[in-house]
Amino acid sequence: MTLDEDDVVLAKALISNPSSWDEKKIISQYEMEFSRWNNSKFAFAFMSGRVSLSACIYALNLQPGDEVILPAYTCVVVPNAFYFAGIKPVYCDIELETYGLDVNEVKAHITPRVRAILLHHLYGLVCRDYHAILDLAKCYSLSVIEDCCHATGAKYRGEKVGNLGDVAFYSSEQSKIFNTIQGGFSTTNNLELANKMKEYYNCAAYPDSVWIQKQLYNVLLNFYECKHPKKWILRDIIQLRYGHKRLLSTTAEEEKGIRPKHYGCKMPAPIAAIGSNQIKKLDYYNSRRRETAKYWDIWCENNNYTKPVVIDNSVPVYLRYPVLVEPFKKQNRSWANKQLGVDLGIWFASNIHPSKNIKGFPKADKAVECCINLPCLMQ
Ligand SMILES: Cc1ncc(COP(=O)(O)O)c(C=O)c1O
Repeated sequence: MTLDEDDVVLAKALISNPSSWDEKKIISQYEMEFSRWNNSKFAFAFMSGRVSLSACIYALNLQPGDEVILPAYTCVVVPNAFYFAGIKPVYCDIELETYGLDVNEVKAHITPRVRAILLHHLYGLVCRDYHAILDLAKCYSLSVIEDCCHATGAKYRGEKVGNLGDVAFYSSEQSKIFNTIQGGFSTTNNLELANKMKEYYNCAAYPDSVWIQKQLYNVLLNFYECKHPKKWILRDIIQLRYGHKRLLSTTAEEEKGIRPKHYGCKMPAPIAAIGSNQIKKLDYYNSRRRETAKYWDIWCENNNYTKPVVIDNSVPVYLRYPVLVEPFKKQNRSWANKQLGVDLGIWFASNIHPSKNIKGFPKADKAVECCINLPCLMQ
C-alpha cells in the first residue's frame, strides 16, 4: 500500500476542486514522468493494466482469428483483453522458479496461427526464461507483449522490464507496485507501434465525473483502512461514510468474460495527479520491498521452503513474496496471522484467477495448490 498522507491531502483537494479535472497538461506530464522513470520512449496512461493491454493488442495489429501464447497462470482480465479483440489465447504451462512461461512449453505451442507471446514477470520477479523467450520470438518473428503489472521497476541487465519486448503494460491498481486505485500504462520503444497505440488512445474516452469522484474517495478509503495509525478505529467510520463508493477492480461480468460498459477508458487528469505523486515514491517503496524480501528469505531458510529465484543480472521488486508451501497452509490462512503476524496472499486461487481452472497444466496446478504470497510492505 503505497498511498500516504500526502496522497490523501491531494485527493481531498481534487475532490473539492472539480474544475481542475480537465487540465490535460497533468496527464501528459504524468506520461512523460513515467516514460522517463521507466526509460521507455512512449507511455500512454489508461484506467487499468487490462485496458493498457488492449492498447498493446491494437498497436500490434493483432486480428480476429490470430492466436497468442499466454501463461496458464494469470489473471482473467489478461485473456479477456484478447477475447474482446477476437483473438484466441493458447495457454502454456509455467515454471515454478519465478512463475513465468516455460520456454520449452512456448516452443512446443508455436503454430503458424500464433502471432505473439505474452510473458509476465509475476510477483515482481523477473521471469526465468525472459531472454530465451525473447530469442525464440525473434527466431519465429513473433511479437512479445510484456505483462509488467506486478513488476514496475524490476530490472534485467540494468534495463527496466518492459523495454525488451515490443510492447508492455503496467498496473497502478490498488494492490500493485504503485497505486492510483485503478490505472495503468502501455509502453513501447518503437515509433510505429507508438503511433498505433496513440490511435487507440485518441479513440478512448475518459471516465465520467461520478467514476472519478469515486476513485478519489477510494484513495481515502484505502489509506484510512490500511495505513492510518488509527486505522482500527477509523475503519468503521470510513466504511460508513464512503463504503458505498468502493470500486471493485474486477467486476462479476469480467470474471465471466463479459466486457464491462466502462472498459476502455484512458486516465483523466485528477487520477494522473495522484499517479505523479506516486511515481516520486516508486524507488523508495521498491527498495523497502527488497529489504522485506530478505526477511522472508531467512524465514524460508529456517523453515525449509525454497526461496523464489532471482535470475542472474536481475533486480526484482517483490510485489509479494511467493513461496510454495503445503496445500493445507494455502487453504487455511489463519496460521500466517498467528505465526507471522501477516495476512496471507493466495494469488492465484485458480489458474485463470479468480475465474476458472483450465486443465492440463501441471505446474500451474501446483502453483494454484501450493503458492502463497507474503507481503513485502509492512507498516
Ligand atoms: C498478472 C496480472 N496482469 C494484469 C493484471 C491487470 O491489471 P489491472 O487490474 O490494472 O487491469 C493483473 C491484475 O491483477 C494481474 O495480476
